[in-house]
Amino acid sequence: MTPPDPPAGPAGPPARPWALLAELTHACPLHCGYCSNPLELTRRSSELSTEQWKDVLRQAGELGVVQMHLSGGEPLLRRDLVEIVAAAEAAGIYTQLVTSGVGLSESRLAALAAAGLKSVQLSVQHADPRASDRIAGRRSFAEKEHAAGLVRAAGLPLGMNVVLHRENLDALDALVELGVSWGVDRIELANVQFYGWGLLNRAALLPTREQLTGAREGVQRWRGRLPDGPELVWVVPDYFDGVAKPCMGGWGAVSLTVAPDGTVLPCPAAAALPDLDPPNVRDHRLDWIWDHSGAFTRYRGTDWMPDPCRSCSRREQDFGGCRCQAYALTGDATRTDPACGLSPDHGLIRGLADEATDGRNRITRRAPARPEAVGPG
Ligand code: SF4
Ligand code: FES
Repeated sequence: MTPPDPPAGPAGPPARPWALLAELTHACPLHCGYCSNPLELTRRSSELSTEQWKDVLRQAGELGVVQMHLSGGEPLLRRDLVEIVAAAEAAGIYTQLVTSGVGLSESRLAALAAAGLKSVQLSVQHADPRASDRIAGRRSFAEKEHAAGLVRAAGLPLGMNVVLHRENLDALDALVELGVSWGVDRIELANVQFYGWGLLNRAALLPTREQLTGAREGVQRWRGRLPDGPELVWVVPDYFDGVAKPCMGGWGAVSLTVAPDGTVLPCPAAAALPDLDPPNVRDHRLDWIWDHSGAFTRYRGTDWMPDPCRSCSRREQDFGGCRCQAYALTGDATRTDPACGLSPDHGLIRGLADEATDGRNRITRRAPARPEAVGPG
């Protein structure tokens, strides 16, 4: 079974969200330097309870959501994951588990599949086990390999996701070969984006133009060599093409994110925007949040746009780019995304991309979490 297609066409934002990103927990066994979760993570004791998640999913189904990514952190750390998947299934929502693979057992996977889980996306940091463990900040490659075998044996669709950056872009060929040998259906080659903790490590993560050119050519070559799959998805880098991405398919247009503590956001990184005042499912219903909350209506559509977006022919295609990136780079979320070559701030991006030749910067990792009372998961 494959996920339903998103609504298409130039008719503008649909009336209802199509996808939900459920960040079940910020807790994670890995310590990747590119982590896009916020600097300040939600504590386990502040996470939504099982019953609250079930209610969220009931509301999401009524609102029209058809696909959900169960994410985090590491969603397997929620002991109630099977119940959450079952609640999504009852609400008619297609579920994909987004996981590091650490902690996935045959019995857990069987229970998840029986509850309605439809597919799994596995993160991999490098094709070389030692390099993968180094980037992940702990031994994990062997568990990922084991998890891939379990998913294949269970007959579920399997995707592999690799965040690409300076340390692994040159290993693109080996990464594709790894995905083929694991029998994956899809390989998502996602160039690193700079949000949350990853923004702190930007200098160490930014690739060189030469690396990106080589990897892009490599993807084209592999697509020619693998006409029958796996599907290769290349998520374009932000800083190098002079083009703004249609972030999240538009602000409050197709998707919503529910953070571990119940905060509802138009995108996972939006918690960093000042004055957004995001609503919470503990206080409001999802339909009100989607239709009426200031957080969701602020950058919806095109009326909020400044020039050059306001008068640009691409404004309905890229929606002025990414609000979080505009804020991260200019301190003003209302400005045109500096990734766009037409932005008056594009020089900020060009400067960073041109400096990306110095490999001396080191990755900073989060401090290990302090022990605390176990949360609802
Ligand atoms: Fe997109 Fe705005 Fe750039 Fe036009 S000016 S291409 S709408 S980001
Ligand atoms: Fe928030 Fe792009 S990541 S709008």
